[in-house]
Amino acid sequence: MEGRPIPGYPQNKKPLIQGVSLLEDLLSTTGTVVDRGLEGVSVGSTLLSNVEGQVGRLTYRGYDIDDLAANSSFEEVVHLLLYGHLPTVTELDALKRELASRRALPAPLISAMQSVPKTAWPMDVMRTIVSGLGLFSPVNEKGEHVSDVHTAIELIAKMTTILAAWDRIRRGLDPVEPRADLSHAANFLYMRTGKVPADIEADAVNTYLVLLADHGYNASTFSARVTASTRADIYAAVTSAIATLTGDLHGGAATASYTNIVTIGTPENAEKFVRDTLARGERIMGMGHREYRVRDPRAKHLEAMARKLSEYHGDSHWYAIARKLEDESNKVLQEAKPDRKIYANVDFYTAPVLADLGIPGDEFVCLFACGRMAGWTAHVLEQLADNRLIRPQVAYVGPPAGPYLPIEQRGAIAAAGR
Ligand code: COA
Repeated sequence: MEGRPIPGYPQNKKPLIQGVSLLEDLLSTTGTVVDRGLEGVSVGSTLLSNVEGQVGRLTYRGYDIDDLAANSSFEEVVHLLLYGHLPTVTELDALKRELASRRALPAPLISAMQSVPKTAWPMDVMRTIVSGLGLFSPVNEKGEHVSDVHTAIELIAKMTTILAAWDRIRRGLDPVEPRADLSHAANFLYMRTGKVPADIEADAVNTYLVLLADHGYNASTFSARVTASTRADIYAAVTSAIATLTGDLHGGAATASYTNIVTIGTPENAEKFVRDTLARGERIMGMGHREYRVRDPRAKHLEAMARKLSEYHGDSHWYAIARKLEDESNKVLQEAKPDRKIYANVDFYTAPVLADLGIPGDEFVCLFACGRMAGWTAHVLEQLADNRLIRPQVAYVGPPAGPYLPIEQRGAIAAAGR
């Protein structure tokens, strides 16, 4: 999936225009290094998380995601990312109180959501309302928004409120006010349904948010840091990040993966689905990763959660399809692309977990954003603490500099290639 051909761009390394040789030739003469996907290129440093793709390990500030998923609340992980260490009991209490006190949305933003067409895509609503939060945030004496740890906590606190409110509004229901006595995960489910969730359901959301909280310089985090590097404020930076997360090569894969299990319908159809998808030249969403050459370390936790939830609800439908789809994808992809190690990523088992919790497929990427807001804001603060404008170069492969064309001469010369 290379995307649309761009007119004038040397697709498939064909000569662009007469007189300009292949991209590689041009670059070899200038000595410029080009990597279109920045694969393997370090563009900065971070203290926040480490993705070890060859061994399949993810750590947040040195803590293995396996330990955090098994033992920590999302609130503890927020503290770890924003303050640099896991909290003491007192610190955790203070953070929980602050998060709870910042959950409610400004009333005009609820009204704005109520006037949006019910068919609006949830990620579009979330991006717009997060951007709108900047309109209600205090500014300093220079008229700038304050980008600090408390703004970060505010953004993290409000994300699940936005998602739950939009979920209800689009169903024709009134939003449910957040409760201060519930955990971040439990309060999210409560605001969707008006009922306090079972522990296993709140645990599933908590684990999901912990697993998604940060992941190195992924595309959306990179967007946030690029935006912050211009000294734009934290609202602008996370709005860029949300926009970047929407694509199906990034967070949108969770929704696409859900569409797949719905389309497959029953485990027996999984193999045909995989073969047909690859025969059409398409990708299996939820499979493959830029960094991991083994199964994504987050997938096992989500798979275990999907299995537990299916047992709890007495319905293994989604889990069984996902399980079979992973097996068939591994088998068929191994045959089709033996040189490329393509395994399940975090989005693969997001689908059965969130589907079992009754969350609609088009909201999966929004919940991803709720977790990742912890990482985005921590990265923005890290960027601002030691900022340098992120401004790479691009290899120009267009026509050489030439004379300006008066309008009456343009038709013939343009047809000749300039
Ligand atoms: N299904 C089928 N083939 C896949 C694949 C998938 N999910 N992921 C990668 N490939 C294939 C590509 O077609 C390509 O084959 P080719 O060399 O014959 O053209 C090869 O593997 C390398 O792909 P490339 O796009 O260069 O790898 P990448 O490092 O950019 O891929 C992803 C990373 C995530 C973009 C890619 O695996 C993908 O598109 N996955 C599906 C979307 C997804 O789940 N995204 C969420 C990521 S957390």
